[in-house]
Amino acid sequence: MARTLVAYYSRTGTTRRVAIDVAHALDADLEEIRDRRDRAGPAGFVRSLLEASLQVGSDIDPPRHVPGAYELVVIGSPAWGPWLSSPARSFIWRHRADLEKVAFFSTTRQRGAEAVLEQMAHAAGKAPEAVLALHAGDVWRNRAAHAIERFVDRIRSVLEEEHPRNGPAPAPH
Ligand SMILES: Cc1cc2nc3c(=O)[nH]c(=O)nc-3n(C[C@H](O)[C@H](O)[C@H](O)COP(=O)(O)O)c2cc1C
Repeated sequence: MARTLVAYYSRTGTTRRVAIDVAHALDADLEEIRDRRDRAGPAGFVRSLLEASLQVGSDIDPPRHVPGAYELVVIGSPAWGPWLSSPARSFIWRHRADLEKVAFFSTTRQRGAEAVLEQMAHAAGKAPEAVLALHAGDVWRNRAAHAIERFVDRIRSVLEEEHPRNGPAPAPH
């Protein structure tokens, strides 16, 4: 089993794309947060915005991976207005007691991602080891690679601190 889980919610694919890159770089397991609401079209957009602004959760499917079994869980969400998406909020609420270390990322068209990162920390009840806020335009035009790399490096160093690969040799008897 991998040491890291990358869990993400994505309505239109942007957050998914970042999640796949992060998971690949960290050799992590990938968990899509799925909810049961129809979020297609203008009605789905308005419903989503309303839920996010009310800061409520949504009805999500049980995860395929067990978040509490990982040393670090990376969670990604789009910004819906300046708010955390309701499916990602539900995931964090559901697993907050089991999460050991966390890192967060958020994508937005123009603004709101930083506010979402703060809400994720608040919902999880713990400070993240690393955060990443991205614009969707940069993600799709392949301009996010450096920022993603820095984020991944920070997570790697946290994992390395936990279990150094080249730690001191055991003392002789
Ligand atoms: C309900 C809703 C509200 C949104 N509100 C904003 C906003 O206020 N500002 C903004 O820049 N982008 C906003 N967006 C755009 C998304 O944050 C952006 O496209 C994000 O990257 C989508 O991620 P996804 O493709 O993973 O769903 C909104 C999207 C939705 C669905």
